[in-house]
Amino acid sequence: MQKKKLSRLDLLKMKQENQKAVWITAYDYWTASFAEQAGMDMILVGDSLGMCIYGYSGTVPVTMDQCIWHSEAVRRGAPYTFVIGDMPFLSYQVSVPDAVLNAGRFHKEAGVDAIKLEGGTRVCPQIQAIAEGGMLCMGHIGLTPQSSGQLGGFKAQGRTAETARDLIADARAIEDAGAFALLVEAVPPEVCGIIRETLKIPVYSIGAGWEADGQLMICSDVLGIFQAFTPKFVKKYENLGEKTINAFKQYAQDARNGTFPKEEHAYRMVEGELPKLRKLLDD
Ligand code: KIV
Repeated sequence: MQKKKLSRLDLLKMKQENQKAVWITAYDYWTASFAEQAGMDMILVGDSLGMCIYGYSGTVPVTMDQCIWHSEAVRRGAPYTFVIGDMPFLSYQVSVPDAVLNAGRFHKEAGVDAIKLEGGTRVCPQIQAIAEGGMLCMGHIGLTPQSSGQLGGFKAQGRTAETARDLIADARAIEDAGAFALLVEAVPPEVCGIIRETLKIPVYSIGAGWEADGQLMICSDVLGIFQAFTPKFVKKYENLGEKTINAFKQYAQDARNGTFPKEEHAYRMVEGELPKLRKLLDD
């Protein structure tokens, strides 16, 4: 049966009914298709593609064009899933008009359902303008990878009363600015719980515990593909990195020792054509 794509109102209802929303990142057609077949509620085309696909050490080099190309592929792979495009570094920080135009590109060129951007009070003018432009905008606070330099690295946030209070103030400001949902990253579960209780909009967690309205994970972490580092909050459900290396090794070994390819992998000539070819060559 064809799946029904969720709307903002469905996500809100899920929060109100204490039903957890589950989402995952995807950067390409086939991962998106598997995510849809697995029944994910949402897919994020994260700018984590910089690390997971392009091998950068962080998300800062990622461009708008890269995000659009990958979002297009994900849209094709998951036509019935709520897809969120991630605004890359410098696509919204410089000015409010830039933010609206780039959010619009995600919608017009890639057909996403919403966009996400990082930051608290300081990006509220952008969130408000995007919402006034008729688009759905998700906030993202806590560990915000695009500003990890300013945060002093990829570190958990909101672990003291004062920093937690600032995060809660950011969360309120984001809701007031018109965001339809909020993602909280690498924050203690108790702080995420307070944010969840405080806001009417859905509050999702990546590394922020079990009290949120739902969970996000990075596909390359869940599958055990990303090998550079593993954050504390990651649970690997597979080790596809190791399995892939083993499959490649096996293929190389078979090709080298002649056990691949075999008869069943060959396209033979039409019966009777080989002698004719030999004759043609002799003539
Ligand atoms: O880019 C991404 O995948 C993200 C997550 C780290 C939340 O923004």
